[in-house]
Amino acid sequence: MADKFYITTPIYYPSDKLHIGHTYCTVATDTLARYKRLQGYDVMFLTGTDEHGQKIEDKAREAGVTPQEFVDRIVEGPGGVKDLWKLMNISNDRFIRTTDDYHVKAIQKIFRKLYDNGDIYKGTYKGKYCKPCESFWTESQLVDGKCPDCGREVQDAEEEAYFFRLSKYADRIRDLLENTDFLEPHSRVNEMIRNFIDPGLEDLCVSRTSFSWGVPVDFDPGHVVYVWVDALSNYITALGYGNDRYDDYDKGWWPGVNIVGKEIVRFHSIIWPAMLMSLGEPLPKKCFGHGWLLLDGGKMSKSKGNVVDPYLLARQFGVDALRFFLMRTFPFGSDGNFSNELLIQTINTDLANDLGNLVSRTTAMVEKYFGGTLPAERRYEKAQDDELVALAEGLRDRYEQAMEHYAPHKALEEVFKVIQRANKYIDENAPWALAKNMEANGPRLASVLYHLLDATRICGILLLPFMPESMEKLFAQIGAEASVQTWDSAKTWGALPERVTVTKGENLFPRIDMEKELEVLAAAEAEAKKAALPAVEVEPQLTEQVDFDTFCKSDFRVVKVKACEAVKKSDKLLRFTLDDGTGTDRQILSGVHKYYEPEELVGKTLVAIVNLPPRKMMGLDSCGMLISAVHTEQGEEKLHLIMVDDAIPAGAKLC
Ligand code: ME8
Ligand code: MG
Repeated sequence: MADKFYITTPIYYPSDKLHIGHTYCTVATDTLARYKRLQGYDVMFLTGTDEHGQKIEDKAREAGVTPQEFVDRIVEGPGGVKDLWKLMNISNDRFIRTTDDYHVKAIQKIFRKLYDNGDIYKGTYKGKYCKPCESFWTESQLVDGKCPDCGREVQDAEEEAYFFRLSKYADRIRDLLENTDFLEPHSRVNEMIRNFIDPGLEDLCVSRTSFSWGVPVDFDPGHVVYVWVDALSNYITALGYGNDRYDDYDKGWWPGVNIVGKEIVRFHSIIWPAMLMSLGEPLPKKCFGHGWLLLDGGKMSKSKGNVVDPYLLARQFGVDALRFFLMRTFPFGSDGNFSNELLIQTINTDLANDLGNLVSRTTAMVEKYFGGTLPAERRYEKAQDDELVALAEGLRDRYEQAMEHYAPHKALEEVFKVIQRANKYIDENAPWALAKNMEANGPRLASVLYHLLDATRICGILLLPFMPESMEKLFAQIGAEASVQTWDSAKTWGALPERVTVTKGENLFPRIDMEKELEVLAAAEAEAKKAALPAVEVEPQLTEQVDFDTFCKSDFRVVKVKACEAVKKSDKLLRFTLDDGTGTDRQILSGVHKYYEPEELVGKTLVAIVNLPPRKMMGLDSCGMLISAVHTEQGEEKLHLIMVDDAIPAGAKLC
């Protein structure tokens, strides 16, 4: 029976739509899962959503729905989490929602077990709480008094709470981090030791009473389980730990590999192992902390309005091209700067030029020179062929080495060395020249083309985890049947049948017009940014008070517009001639041309303050100011002159 391999992504907060950063994390884990399946492992790949906590409760309230309705929409609804993973061709075997009944019950059991073990006790929580991160911090952990993760304000919090004896496990955690390969990349070990272990591990607050959207502590109503205890446990409840819904926990899946982003390494490499130690369960095999995709040097976040929409990119460039780009460009484990230029450039260079051309040139030549099927007669020329063959034959081992070290970018680098070598081999052997004398050179030409096809086949197998759909198409084009698409056959040179038949098909990776696509993306992003801005925003009210006498000194009057015209050489100003009830016309200049045409204002009844000192604007006197209402709509300033009932006579005083 095949060995089992269990791999997980973090479970995502369904508080907003997911962005390319989340997609990166999930695509990477999917690629690793597919790689393990390709190797023949019996893989369990888990992803899901982390649905409890105050943030969700608050967002649901803002949206006017229950928390459950709120998360249902983002997880199951159109354009939601499940839709995105389907689009991205994510091959998860299981999807856990922390609101799933079986999980909730299992969390209650886990909490009670930790309590019964004496590892959870009741105390008073005093500290700093970061609401967006749902994290408690001690004074010493704050950076400039703010949350060390997100840099936002933290709040003082004090309440009765349960605590987990994290401190008890400090030595064992240190040992785990320092003396094993549990946490990678290694740089993260130093971060954890320096930031959390060396200063001394404090007990962790694991229940809350200030909100209710969470798993209730069944033996102490009013307390809900801290979201991280709830969330981390998903990795075992989804296998059946503490519940009857699944039955896989004891079947060799656990322990597994947790792939996580760097900001949650602390939870996965300290708190999670300590919880498992307390439960008496085996620790995960590995925690790998990947880096962030940055945009303009900062982390993408919905609240900053700088998220990149994976739906848009997948639609424009194709799912496989997007998956490939994410894995090829950014060393897994480090941060990387995302840009549309880089995306298009990578697709054009690696996929359209190198891989796409190799396939289309080779299949076109097999069709042109041999009618689509290679003849059996061959002429191998050692001096010219050995290097390509050796490179292709050794590829699988180099690739495996990289993948086993969670370095998919390095694995791809190795694959593309072979693809580039194959393209060079075409130029070196100039098949078009050989084709000029088929009688003499036919066998050599067949040999050259076969080498190209078989090198392509090997690369195609190893690219399967990255671009599953495109590689199926590639295999169809180069005539590779299922039996020669396997992990084993990726190490076997010459697995394609001698008389292989190709089928030239659609261009696998069309070249992208950089300039045109950048414009399309920029327009779509601007549109999305605008839509993400608040519909209506008004200035906050002033807290400073004004005394009544001061207020009464401002003389507001009703005025009627007798004439109105644009001020020459100004695109903003309108010149108003107003009846203010005094019998003498009053002139006011107002910068409202952006909002009104002069004609439409003639005859209107407006409000002005009339005892401001006169001002010169564009050489004209402005005696007072028209009153208007201003607000912002999706980031754009809007203005309305205050118009009052025409029945009110000019000069009437406002008070
Ligand atoms: O942290 N680049 O959920 P989450 C790379 N619910 N990765 C990114 C990213 C970016 N710009 N933005 C987000 C949570 N991620 C918890 C997890 S697990 C028991 C609970 C990654 O939705 C992030 O690093 O905030 C994390 O690994 C994952 O997306 C989920 O983030
Ligand atoms: Mg997060």
